[in-house]
Amino acid sequence: MREVEQKLHRDLPSTTVWGYDGQFPGPTIEAEQGEPIYVRWTNDLPNKHLLPEDTTIHSDLIPYDTPGVRTVTHLHGGNVESESDGHAQAWFTRDFQETGLEFEKKDYYYVNDQPPATLWYHDHSLGITRLNVYAGLAGFYLLRNDHERSLDLPEGEYEIPLVLQDRSFEEDGSLFYPTAISDEKGGSDESYPDPSIVPQFYGDTSVVNGKAWPQLSVEPRSYRFRLLNGSNSRYYSLKFRRYDESSGETGGDGPSFVQIGNDGGLLSTPVEISDRLELGVGQRADVVVDFSEYAGETLLLHNNAPAQYRGRTGLEDDDIVSLPEIMLVDVNEPGDSQDATELPDELTRVPDIPVNSVDNERYLTLNGGTADDYGRLLHLLGTADERDGLKIDAPMTEEPALGDTEIWSFANRSGMSHPMHLHLVHFQMLGRQPIGDYDPDEDEIDLEALEAPEPYERGWNDVITVDPGEIVHVIVHFGRHDGLFNDQTGTYMWHCHMLEHEDHDMMRPFTVLPNSD
Ligand code: C2O
Ligand code: CU
Repeated sequence: MREVEQKLHRDLPSTTVWGYDGQFPGPTIEAEQGEPIYVRWTNDLPNKHLLPEDTTIHSDLIPYDTPGVRTVTHLHGGNVESESDGHAQAWFTRDFQETGLEFEKKDYYYVNDQPPATLWYHDHSLGITRLNVYAGLAGFYLLRNDHERSLDLPEGEYEIPLVLQDRSFEEDGSLFYPTAISDEKGGSDESYPDPSIVPQFYGDTSVVNGKAWPQLSVEPRSYRFRLLNGSNSRYYSLKFRRYDESSGETGGDGPSFVQIGNDGGLLSTPVEISDRLELGVGQRADVVVDFSEYAGETLLLHNNAPAQYRGRTGLEDDDIVSLPEIMLVDVNEPGDSQDATELPDELTRVPDIPVNSVDNERYLTLNGGTADDYGRLLHLLGTADERDGLKIDAPMTEEPALGDTEIWSFANRSGMSHPMHLHLVHFQMLGRQPIGDYDPDEDEIDLEALEAPEPYERGWNDVITVDPGEIVHVIVHFGRHDGLFNDQTGTYMWHCHMLEHEDHDMMRPFTVLPNSD
């Protein structure tokens, strides 16, 4: 991890960013299923943070008075041993001079024993993840295998990973990140610390693969895009639209997304997304787009998710402008390479985790109702017994045993949507229902009563959106399942993936215990 100057737009002076291997986003790591790798993530960053740190966040757990920038890298979606998972308190400073309480080793081991998938790596250090990722510390990690290659999906220059992010810039090209709640709200409250963490961050500029307002040129044929929402807080709800460059107007619909995979790998069959594809922070969608009917046209990757996203509830008190224009795509005139890819009917076998094998059910709450010592809104995760929420250092409450199957029911009692993430595992969504329709003290989960997952929520997920006033039930197996997943025990994190929430304080540990029988 190094500090570098990078040109993000031709009309913008160079921007100081932090990059893995000195580039933002970091280099794409391509790994092969069944071939483990070691990575030593090293910190060559300056001793002072690029962005202002709020030293009141987790001040009992973080030594803000020691010099150096704390970093730790997490492989998101990776079935990884706990010592290499990038625990939030396994941070280290430059040259490993200072290390966090949970630091165990320098060389991380990635066993790569899981189906091919679009994974990504990013910083995860306690209390400053939002700043480190915003500065640039994130990159793709693509896991492949022979089966996937046999599907003849678009490859080489026709397979493009796209990390969607939002940033704001100062005139001199430097990154702008709000340092006070008043920067965002337009008022000020003397009682807040300065700098202060903000409740959410929404940038005014679309940045894709480290380029501001990008334009991509494609041939009139099929492409495979690995879409990743790598923003801090923003939701995306995406669709291609026809675009007139001279007037800047959008016309009718462009080509649809055919989704072939999500967080944890391929779907069983390709799914055409007839409307919009929604991506919460951390989520991936592996899609094929056929541009063959659009030769000579310009298309806009259009987003209509309001900044303060409230999902399907229709509640939009949106005082912050959304970000409609994500990327332009120029489709070349017809040449030789015009063929649309024929997608196979079956992509892979996605076995259902059987509901009759459930060992345990957990009711987990998402809360926005408390305030911290300074009166700032605090988001907390809670349990059936502690519904108002627990801080990160409260005693462990989620301790599945290796080999167990569990239903995790996320009940959103706050006023906004949250993308909920579990490390280590991939889960399947069973469905959603209104929060008032299920109370674990009184009811059984009625699977028949649930609203079915959206098409893009099928298959293996590691992030799922929970809208306000609803419960989302997911089924998860800890340990080997159908020969696909590896057996890990130890401590991992589960959290809201909006980075401002994860830092303050919407993150909890869970421990997979060894199997006693
Ligand atoms: Cu993408 Cu705990 O992280
Ligand atoms: Cu959240």
